[in-house]
Amino acid sequence: MYAQELAATARAMMARGKGLLAADESNGTCNKRFEQVGIPTTEEMRRAYRDMLLTTPGINECLSGVILFDETIRQTTKSGVPFANHLMQIGIIPGIKLDKGAKPLAGHPNETVTEGLDGLRDRIAEYYQMGARFAKWRAVYTIDGDRLPSRSCIETNAHALARYAALCQEGGLVPIVEPEVLINGNHTLERSYDVHRDVLKVVFDQLFVQDVDFDKMILKPSMVVSGLECPQQASVEDVARATVKCLKECVPSAVPGCAFLSGGQSAERATAHLNAMNAIFKDELPWTLTFSYARALQQPAMEAWKGNDANVSSAQQLFHIRAKLNSAASQGQYTPEMETEMKAVTV
Ligand code: G3H
Repeated sequence: MYAQELAATARAMMARGKGLLAADESNGTCNKRFEQVGIPTTEEMRRAYRDMLLTTPGINECLSGVILFDETIRQTTKSGVPFANHLMQIGIIPGIKLDKGAKPLAGHPNETVTEGLDGLRDRIAEYYQMGARFAKWRAVYTIDGDRLPSRSCIETNAHALARYAALCQEGGLVPIVEPEVLINGNHTLERSYDVHRDVLKVVFDQLFVQDVDFDKMILKPSMVVSGLECPQQASVEDVARATVKCLKECVPSAVPGCAFLSGGQSAERATAHLNAMNAIFKDELPWTLTFSYARALQQPAMEAWKGNDANVSSAQQLFHIRAKLNSAASQGQYTPEMETEMKAVTV
């Protein structure tokens, strides 16, 4: 019923030089980040923070879509316009986080399965009415030596991702399928590669089994990186080569694009990795490679804003610059020298 609309939305999400903002932190996660920079953890502060981000002048030149949280899609800008309508007015597609979070996986200590399938068809219908045209579901995989992730974790989460994606396409939302292999741990780049490959193979197998149309979805993968505590950190170029090699092995060319999560990398590193992939492989990629970052786009702006109206302009400038740098990276046109623009903003 929605075939043409879904394909057109997926293509629009991957428009050249644009990416996605993940502003869909649950209240718990958002509050945790607020606490770290001393922002009061109230509903109004979360609204004001999203207002600051989403009303940033010129942001529609860099963003094709924004992923919202349930609370936010029900809130309005300071001038009383529902956030989803505001985004549509400035040419940005509103999206919605549909999963209900990663919960302990029975019988598998330190592993999780993402929940939220019960009642999902009805929730999709409601969000579609509210203006959402795409959605997100995040599954999480921990690397621990050769032991984790377990087969059970990989298969259970792939099954849920595919059930979610099939329901989205039935209800008119383009599914963002997000299997996140966590950066935490002392694993090597090679181990990260093997885990990403295992995870992605099973995810695409399940998507195929459950008749999800590849041209009407977006993949949101983590990058193949060395674990944060690995003494041997891979170079930017090695990360780019390993990530693209892995995607080429696992992701069908019918998928319009991969929009990476930043996953705890520094903002600069996340931008440099994306840039290297696009610069090195520019004419060889069957899909668009762009960003769907939360922390790597927002962190400098959140730290500058501090919950204070007087800081809105500086925070918006920082957010806009980060978005422009990632827009450049999505075209392989970023250079580290461009970071000086960030330093020039007075906070
Ligand atoms: O689910 C996670 C977000 O969509 C991406 O967040 O860029 O901070 O990893 P991140």
